[in-house]
Amino acid sequence: MRRIDELPTPFLVLDKARLEANIRAMQARADAQGVTLRPHAKTHKSVDVARLQRDAGARGITVAKPGEAEVFVASGFGDVRLAYTVVGRDKLERLVALASRARVGFCVDTREGARAASDVLAGAGVVLDVLVEVDIGYGRCGVAWDDPASVDFLRWVEGLPGLRLVGILTHAGHAYQGPVMEGESPADALRAVMREERDRMLALAARARASGVPGVEPGRFEISVGSTPSMRYFENAERDGFRVTEIRPGNYVYHDATQVALGSATWNECALTVQAAVVSKHRNADGSERLFLDAGKKVFTSDRTPGSGTYGTLIYNPRTMEPLPHARLSGLSEEHGWVHVRGGATLAVGDRVRIVPAHACVAVNTQDQVFVVDGDLVLDAWGVDARGRVV
Ligand SMILES: Cc1ncc(COP(=O)(O)O)c(C=O)c1O
Repeated sequence: MRRIDELPTPFLVLDKARLEANIRAMQARADAQGVTLRPHAKTHKSVDVARLQRDAGARGITVAKPGEAEVFVASGFGDVRLAYTVVGRDKLERLVALASRARVGFCVDTREGARAASDVLAGAGVVLDVLVEVDIGYGRCGVAWDDPASVDFLRWVEGLPGLRLVGILTHAGHAYQGPVMEGESPADALRAVMREERDRMLALAARARASGVPGVEPGRFEISVGSTPSMRYFENAERDGFRVTEIRPGNYVYHDATQVALGSATWNECALTVQAAVVSKHRNADGSERLFLDAGKKVFTSDRTPGSGTYGTLIYNPRTMEPLPHARLSGLSEEHGWVHVRGGATLAVGDRVRIVPAHACVAVNTQDQVFVVDGDLVLDAWGVDARGRVV
C-alpha cells in the first residue's frame, strides 16, 4: 500500500474515519429530529461518498445541475432532486430522459419558469415533482416566505399540468454570515438562523393550508431546509400539524476552515485537506518569512475563510488536526500559495504540509480525484465523478 508522501503534490486527501464520522453524526441528527436526510452532493460530487451516505440512511440525494443528476442516476441513484430552479427546454428534456430511470424533482420560483417547465414536461407526457423555492432571508432565489402572493403562487403551481407540487424548499445561506448582533456567540447565531429557517417555512405551509391550497397537508407536504451551519443545532418543531420533513446539508461530509470559523465544526471534523509541498522560502525585511506552496488558486479557488481572510489553514499535526501557529495562507496566485510566517518557519523547502481549505466544495471541483487515507496510508483514489458538471 502506498504512503501519502509517495504521491506527487498537490492533491486532495480524504480522511476516511473523519468522513464516516461526519456522515454518521448528521444522519443521527436527522434521525433524532424525525427528518429525512437528503445530502447535497455538490460538496463531494462523488458516487463513492454518496453511497456511504445512502448506506448510513440518507434517502435520495440533492444536486444543483442536470449534469450532476445524470452522473448519479447513471450510478443507480433512484431519487435525485435538483435544489435549483431549472430553466430551459434543453435542460428540462434531460430531466424527462432521467425520469424514466429515477424519481427526479426540481424547483420553481417564478411564473415564467414554472409555466415554461410545465409546458415542456406536459408536452413530453410527464409530470415531475416540484418544490417551490422560498426565500426566508438569504435574498437569493425563492418567493418571499411572508408575501401573501407566495400562497397564490403555490396554488397556481399546483394547477399546472406538467408539475406535481410536493413541497417547499429553502436554503439559509445567510448562516454563513456568522454573528450579526452585538455580543452574539457563534452558536447563538447559528441557532437563530436555524429557528428562523424552520419557523418561517412552517408558517408559510400553515398559511397555504389555511387558504386551502390543494395538497398542502401535514404529513404529505414536504418542507425541506438545510445548510451545514444551520443544521449544526437543528431541532424540529410543529406548527398547525406541520413539521420540517427533510434536511439537505452538503458541506458537512468534509467540513472546512469556514465551518470551523463559524463554530459549526471542529478541526478534528475536517475530513478533507490539501497536501502541498514547500517550493520556495524567503525572509522578509521585518524578520518574518514567506513560504510558497505548490498549490494556488487552481486548487483552493479564491474563497476565503470568514474572519481571518485566509484561503486555508495549515495543519501542524494531521493526526490531531492541530493548526500550525503563526502561519497564514494569506495569498494565492494561480499556481502558488503564499504563506506568511511570523517569527521564522520550521518548514523547509521540499517539506510537505496539509491545509484545510477555506471552502471544501469548490476545492473538490478543481480535482479529478481525492485520495482516501487512513493515517499515512493511501487506501484508495475516488473519482470526483460530477466534477465540472455545471450545465
Ligand atoms: C439549495 C441548497 N441546498 C443545500 C445546500 C447545502 O448547504 P451547505 O453547503 O451549507 O451544506 C446548498 C449550498 O449551497 C444549496 O445551495
